[in-house]
Amino acid sequence: MAVLDNNDPLSVYIHWPFCASKCPYCDFNSHVADTVDHARWRRALLAELDYFARETKGRAVTSVFFGGGTPSLMEPETAALLIGAVKGHWDAPSDLEITLEANPSTAETNLFGAFRDAGVNRLSLGVQSFDDKNLKFLGRGHSAAEAISAINLAARTFPRFSFDLIHGLPGQTPDQWEKDLRTALDLAGDHLSVYQLTIEPGTPFFRDHVPAADEDTGTALYEITQTVLDNAGLEAYEISNHARPGHQCRHNLEIWRGGDYAGIGPGAHGRLAGASGTDAIYQIHTPERWLEKVEADGHGTAKRSTLDAREQAEEILMTGLRLSDGIGRDRLQGLENIIDEGGLKRLTDGGFMETDEAGLRTTASGRLCLNEVLRQLLANF
Ligand SMILES: C[S@@+](CC[C@H](N)C(=O)[O-])C[C@H]1O[C@@H](n2cnc3c(N)ncnc32)[C@H](O)[C@@H]1O
Ligand code: SF4
Repeated sequence: MAVLDNNDPLSVYIHWPFCASKCPYCDFNSHVADTVDHARWRRALLAELDYFARETKGRAVTSVFFGGGTPSLMEPETAALLIGAVKGHWDAPSDLEITLEANPSTAETNLFGAFRDAGVNRLSLGVQSFDDKNLKFLGRGHSAAEAISAINLAARTFPRFSFDLIHGLPGQTPDQWEKDLRTALDLAGDHLSVYQLTIEPGTPFFRDHVPAADEDTGTALYEITQTVLDNAGLEAYEISNHARPGHQCRHNLEIWRGGDYAGIGPGAHGRLAGASGTDAIYQIHTPERWLEKVEADGHGTAKRSTLDAREQAEEILMTGLRLSDGIGRDRLQGLENIIDEGGLKRLTDGGFMETDEAGLRTTASGRLCLNEVLRQLLANF
């Protein structure tokens, strides 16, 4: 494995694949295990971090993100050791952003202080709704009251926090959603993530034919979200993410802007500069198989390949157009041959895209139908 002379910043994603129970809508790489051998998992995650550190020596790390699954089910000592190892391997700024995803259940909120002491400085809570009926439907293990106390505790414990909400539940009306959103605003800090419920193949919701929100309802819920949050100063900086200026999630922003990241843990993926371009790297998906491979070889990489020019251009479009700032001029080079000119014209005439000296971006309406926007831009593919 070659160590490249590369000073570009790097983000680190660490995946914890376990949850207390499986939500019926979720297709993340998350599993319910009877027991977890924490010492074994800790050793393996540290070993794989070491492996990626060797090839990226000398670079500066800009953020760490513990995602899942439910990483707040990790032992805080595991987080502390991983954070210590990140700081040992790479140059790190004193305000390195370190995010942990968490569920609002009591078992995990009891550990908030320990995670802060471990070095976590940003918490992202999966609240989903403030309506107990909705929470039950979503198979969540917490009530609205528990969510509210978890948010208040997060605000007291961590310098920065955010929480996730889901809209578009079957039968949910715009009025019901707006009520949920207003409760959220009373409790929110400087960042909120709002997702529309998607019915993912392979999930119990898919099997049970749970209907997704129809297009009109989806549009109404999205527009209410944009208006209410925008008026409250939480600007949409990405399709599903809203923040006060300066409080965006740096980790996700770097990734959507095409920055390099190392992905540690089962099913994690990464993008790292290789000898002849950007390498896409995928870790083994199944937790037990990943663990055994790391124990045998020091890493659990299942596949690594260099993106060709087209794949890279497609990725720039797919990630960059999620952001309200879009894609800067400097990153548009090489895309001219790929973007369908007729498609771009139709999209700008229709108010779905804007292009100027700063670059190329979607409007709020364009972000609402991003898949269709991409289909038209990549019509020649
Ligand atoms: C990995 S989970 C977050 C942490 C934690 N496991 C939890 O659920 O609270 C990431 C977020 O993705 C969102 N999400 C997951 N599956 C979704 C789906 N099918 N539709 C919409 N949002 C979804 C939820 O808001 C969830 O909080
Ligand atoms: S939504 Fe979160 S808690 Fe629920 S199964 Fe997925 S990762 Fe686990």
